[in-house]
Formats: sequence, C-alpha cells, structure tokens
Amino acid sequence: MRNLLGFWIDTISWKNLKFRFLISFTWVEKMKDRIINKSAEIAVIGLGYIGLPTAIMFANAGFNVIGYEIRKEVVEKLNSGNSHIIEPEIDDLLHKAIDRGRLKATSNKDDIRGKDVYLICVQTPLRDDKTPDLTYLEEAVRTVAETMKKGSLVVIESTIPPMTTLKMGRLIEEIRGFKAGVDFYMVHAPERVMPGRIFKELVYNSRIIGGVTEESAELAEILYRSFAKGQIFRTNSTTSEMVKLMENTFRDVNIALANEFALLAHQYGVNIFEAIELANTHPRVKIHTPGIGVGGHCLPKDPYLLLSSAKEDFGLIQKAREINEDMPLFAKDLLMNALKMINIPPEEAIVVVLGLAYKGDSDDIRNSPALAFVEGIKEDVKEVRSYDPYVKGTHETLEEALKGADAAVIATDHSQFKNLDWEKIGSLMRNKILIDGRYIVKTPPKGFVFKGLGRGEY
Ligand SMILES: NC(=O)c1ccc[n+]([C@@H]2O[C@H](COP(=O)([O-])OP(=O)(O)OC[C@H]3O[C@@H](n4cnc5c(N)ncnc54)[C@H](O)[C@@H]3O)[C@@H](O)[C@H]2O)c1
Repeated sequence: MRNLLGFWIDTISWKNLKFRFLISFTWVEKMKDRIINKSAEIAVIGLGYIGLPTAIMFANAGFNVIGYEIRKEVVEKLNSGNSHIIEPEIDDLLHKAIDRGRLKATSNKDDIRGKDVYLICVQTPLRDDKTPDLTYLEEAVRTVAETMKKGSLVVIESTIPPMTTLKMGRLIEEIRGFKAGVDFYMVHAPERVMPGRIFKELVYNSRIIGGVTEESAELAEILYRSFAKGQIFRTNSTTSEMVKLMENTFRDVNIALANEFALLAHQYGVNIFEAIELANTHPRVKIHTPGIGVGGHCLPKDPYLLLSSAKEDFGLIQKAREINEDMPLFAKDLLMNALKMINIPPEEAIVVVLGLAYKGDSDDIRNSPALAFVEGIKEDVKEVRSYDPYVKGTHETLEEALKGADAAVIATDHSQFKNLDWEKIGSLMRNKILIDGRYIVKTPPKGFVFKGLGRGEY
C-alpha cells in the first residue's frame, strides 16, 4: 500500500486520491474473493515448459484456465489431450484438467478477453550478440494489453532483465492507457522449477513475488497459494527480477569454477572428481560438477540478462560464461588427441555423440553443449552420428549408431548410458575410442582408448 500511495501522490490530487482509494479497496477485495473462491478466470500466455505445467496446476486447483499459444500445432495437440513436452506426470495431469473442462488452449486472442489474471510465460532468449531478445515478451504484453480489463492481475513468470516489469507496465499504459499499480495489478513471479521435477517443484519450491505495488504482490501470493506449499516471499518487481537472475548466475559461475578446476587437473594429472569429492568433505566447501558444458534455456542466458541493463562491464560473470562456452571445445581436444594416439586421421573418423539433450533423461536440446560439440567437430571429421533415446531425428538404437564407428563421445548423462557394457558394444565399432564428457564411465573399459573430461590426462 505504501508504494501504491507514493505512486498516486505523484500523479493525482488528494481529492481524487480519496476517491480512487475507495475504488482500489473495492477492486482488491473483489479480486481477492474471486481468487479465493476460484471464480477468477486465468489466461496463460505461452504454453511451453513453464506455461503448460503452470496452466495445468491452476486448472487442477479449480480455476478455469485458457492457454494462449501462437504455435497452432501445440494448441491442437493439447486440445486433443496430448502434451508436446516430456515431463513426468504431465499426461495424467493434463487429462485431468481437460476432462474436468478446466483447461483449453487457443490461438485466438478473442478467447482471452476480459480475464481476471494473465500469466506471461513466453521465452526470453538471447540474440546472436548475447543481448536479450525481448520480442516474444513484448508481443505477449501487447496481447495482454489489448485483451485485459481494468483491475486484471498481470503476472510475468518469464525470466527478464532487471526493471523489465516496470517497462512492460509502461508499454501496457501506452497501448491501453491503464497504469500499472493504479488501474491494474502487476507482478514479476519468476519460476524456479527444474525440468524433470516440474510438478513437484511447482508445489514445494519457495517463491519470490515482486509486485509493482504491495497489493499486486498480495493478490499474486493468494493466487499461487491455491497450489503452492513452499514459502512465498514478497518484494518489489526489480528485486525479484534480480533474485532470479542471481540464482542462475551463481550456479553458472560455480560450474565455471569447477570446469576451470577440471582444466587445471588435466595439467597436473589429477582426477578432478576424486579431488572435488575430497574438497567437499570440508564443512564449508561445495564445489559443483564439471562437464562438457552448460545448457538449457536458462543457465547460459540468464547471466547475460543480468548484465544487460548494467552501465559498465562486470568481468567475473562474463569470464565464467566464456569458460563454460569453451568446454565443448575442450572435449573436442580430447577426441582429437585420442584419434591421433591410434593414428586415425580426423577426416576419416566416424564419431558418435551419445546424448544431445542438455541434461540427463530429458528431451530438451536448447543451448545444449552436445550441439556445440557437434558443431565444433563436424568440419573436421568424416561423419558425425548421434543417438539420444529422447530426441527425435537421432539414430533409432545405440547399436545402429555405433556400428562401424571409430569414437563414441558421451555428452549427456542419460540413465541409459550409465551401465553400458562397453566391452560388448565395442565389438560393433571399427575403432574403440570412448570420450566421457559427463563422468559416467567410472572405470575405463578394456581395449578402449579412453579419455574422460576432468580425469587428468589429455
Ligand atoms: N524451462 C525452464 O526450465 C525454466 C525454468 C525457470 C524459468 N524459465 C523461464 O520461463 C520462461 C519460459 O520458458 P520456457 O522454457 O517455458 O519457454 P518455451 O519456449 O518452452 O515456451 C514458451 C512458449 O511461449 C510461446 N509464445 C511465444 N511468444 C508468444 C506470444 N506472443 N503469445 C503466445 N505464446 C507465445 C512459444 O510458442 C512457446 O510455446 C523463460 O523466460 C525462461 O527463462 C524457464
């Protein structure tokens, strides 16, 4: 309320203030009632990895939810009861929401007019020059501005650079004439879930809700309470934007440190995984896990989003990104050295990349270091094949992919790769080179030229 009053004092007279306070008081109480008794209607903009599970959760909590998505094929698939993303429990939960008539998808803006709540869950990627591409977000905000009503609650769940919620509030004002915090409620409520555990984490993770006013944050908290059991912390929108970006930047920088340790370990002939395990016995040390790189929609871009609104350069975060981006090239060095060891000219080599997804047991290939690795070797070798049990367009079976190949490179820690009988599989290969970029093969298999990232030798 203090923020809201400050905002109003700048813009309106005291006489109007009293009048508007009464209106706002009535609005907020009405909206609270509508949310508490689940009669508030919700539109979710963008039905991807975050938007779809979120829409399903609100629908199964008892709200009428409509998902607005620009990809028509996704809308058709969802309305016929099929999810376009792979995630534990999603099929059952989606069917439940659709069968109860609580969830529908649409590509028609008219279907989302006059809703009480708009949740924006669109992607916020980087451009090639590593600056934020906010065009999806701006388009989604335009859609909301055109369709919302006075008194709607607008929630941005997407991860965004600091101060973007305030900018998007101003965009709505330009388009529709509604002022954020005065004519409608607005918050940034970042998502912290991890693919593979989304439905559990949506319920049990703690949440940060950053309001442009305290009332906005309060309404959003009541909304999320309909299914969330974790703690909810309220703050302002810019703090919330920064918190989300700091979390992923913290992880990215710490992985970069682990990766730098791994590179150093190669120089000293040390197995970094043993060294890290020992270092982590210190009560205040928790070193992350090194590997072939950092992928996914979030970690590789969020540090750049954090830096994007800053007025000067910040070296540590930038350097950490560069270290992580170079790890696929280090894996390439390991491969080239292994080929050299048994005198295979790279231009004659058939290389099989095992796993294209950026993380184990997922189909998500966004910013995957496996793809960067493929890109990095494809001009140097004769043929690059790939096998990923979750990713379409790769070889059907591991055996088919490895037949007649010279080298296998493990780029993703899928469970399926964890206990393979390499000595048996090796009999299918023309030459036996195994590069482990994910510390999956603990004991080098007999008869192989084996190189593990972080295992201390080139
Ligand atoms: N994926 C994750 O694990 C994760 C975790 C936490 C936060 N986030 C953040 O959440 C946001 C969404 O990520 P995601 O992984 O769900 O992205 P996504 O690409 O899977 O989904 C975004 C969806 O929005 C749709 N879309 C784009 N513009 C639209 C518009 N104008 N109107 C309607 N639909 C539109 C796209 O077609 C797509 O289906 C991002 O900001 C991301 O950083 C993602």
